[in-house]
Amino acid sequence: YSHSLKKTAVVTLSRDKITLSWLVLEYFSYFCFFSPLLPFHRTSLPSPMFSRNDFSIWSILRKCIGMELSKITMPVIFNEPLSFLQRLTEYMEHTYLIHKASSLSSTTERMQCVAAFAVSAVASQWERTGKPFNPLLGETYELIRDDLGFRLLSEQVSHHPPISAFYAEGLNNDFVFHGSIYPKLKFWGKSVEAEPKGTMTLELLEHNEAYTWTNPTCCVHNIIVGKLWIEQYGNVEITNHKTGEKCVLSFKPCGLFGKELHKVEGYIQDKSKKKLCALYGKWTECLYSVDPATFEAYKKNDKKNTEEKKSSKQVGNTEESDEMPLPDSESVYVIPGSVLLWKITPRPPNSAQMYNFTSFAMALNELDKEMESVIPKTDCRLRPDIRAMENGEIDLASEEKKRLEEKQRTARKNRSKSEEDWKTRWFHQGPNPHTGTQDWLYSGNYWDRNYFNLPDIY
Ligand SMILES: *[C@@H]1O[C@H](CO)[C@@H](O)[C@H](O)[C@H]1NC(C)=O
Ligand SMILES: *[C@@H]1O[C@H](CO)[C@@H](O)[C@H](O)[C@H]1NC(C)=O
Repeated sequence: YSHSLKKTAVVTLSRDKITLSWLVLEYFSYFCFFSPLLPFHRTSLPSPMFSRNDFSIWSILRKCIGMELSKITMPVIFNEPLSFLQRLTEYMEHTYLIHKASSLSSTTERMQCVAAFAVSAVASQWERTGKPFNPLLGETYELIRDDLGFRLLSEQVSHHPPISAFYAEGLNNDFVFHGSIYPKLKFWGKSVEAEPKGTMTLELLEHNEAYTWTNPTCCVHNIIVGKLWIEQYGNVEITNHKTGEKCVLSFKPCGLFGKELHKVEGYIQDKSKKKLCALYGKWTECLYSVDPATFEAYKKNDKKNTEEKKSSKQVGNTEESDEMPLPDSESVYVIPGSVLLWKITPRPPNSAQMYNFTSFAMALNELDKEMESVIPKTDCRLRPDIRAMENGEIDLASEEKKRLEEKQRTARKNRSKSEEDWKTRWFHQGPNPHTGTQDWLYSGNYWDRNYFNLPDIY
């Protein structure tokens, strides 16, 4: 790219400026090609998103109340041009928190960073109301980010129920992060709830420690009328299996006055349940840590103030839609003495036209010639429907999506006729070594890049 830029730019310049321009451009291309600090990742999608205003989703969904959403065929217009395998890779956006955890010598401080990582992992969901494409059985995705220090592999290991397994490792061998997710979607009339069943396991290799947790439930409100908004709620319990320390975080449902909107709070406790520190913040913004006594004193005071306010407010009634409550204050109040653990990176200016993607998400479906020659043919970057949607070709995307789903159905029928079972390629089922629960474990050898007999799924 930078070579072609060099040529075209030079032709348009007058002669006396050529020498200088060459120098500048040479320097520029040198900088881009050889600076390890400046990896190329695209910063926008090839095409902005379509408006969804002309589509009546109600006409499609009215018949489906109470059904599991994976069984409902949705028009492609409500998707975002990413496979769920790519969407779950967004857990890795704040990998620096894992590297940091690994570098710390105190177990409590390590837990603080792991908690910040677990909270930050769901931050990319904020205002992302587009539905990712359901992965096809056998679909895979890989992502290598030298700049962030990790590589990740994922595979769709089951279709009904849809289960995605992933395995990420630090490039300097400091961690392994793996798990399997079964995003159980429920349609509740006005909202869609996604309960991400499955255990996350993070191993800090230098400390010989393993942490496990499950993600909070995500709910998209007002899918029929009103403004779409997203809420995450439920408890997330992170366990350090070596020390017995726990971090219990509560993702708050927004509540009647919206005061709790996006809030997360909880404690790190030792084996004997003694509180070691309090954590608080918003999953859309930041996470702080503070001394538990200071935190409780603040909460007590705050509760008193809220009760006074409540008695002076009127409760509004809304029949049509679940209005997103406006939070009393947009930002988190920082209790004196707190330490900042994580802060969200602002979204890029073009995000609103690009499905509210983060900079990290913009690059997920990027495909260049070099990559194309090494990735297996099951990689979701090669999925024609997602590619078409990304390019703004909605009708083609819709046709291709139907074709792929049909092909998947035919292949399944063929298998059942010949009584042959589907074999997963890179993962196998087994007990999680730390929790003992049923999980999907990496079988190895993916990065040898010796791909043969891969299924033809596209
Ligand atoms: C993006 O965020 C805005 C709010 O800032 C919201 O109105 C819009 O629906 C979101 N778009 C998508 C595709 O989620
Ligand atoms: C299913 O089987 C038929 C007949 O054996 C074959 O022609 C077709 O390619 C198969 N389809 C898939 C998707 O495996």
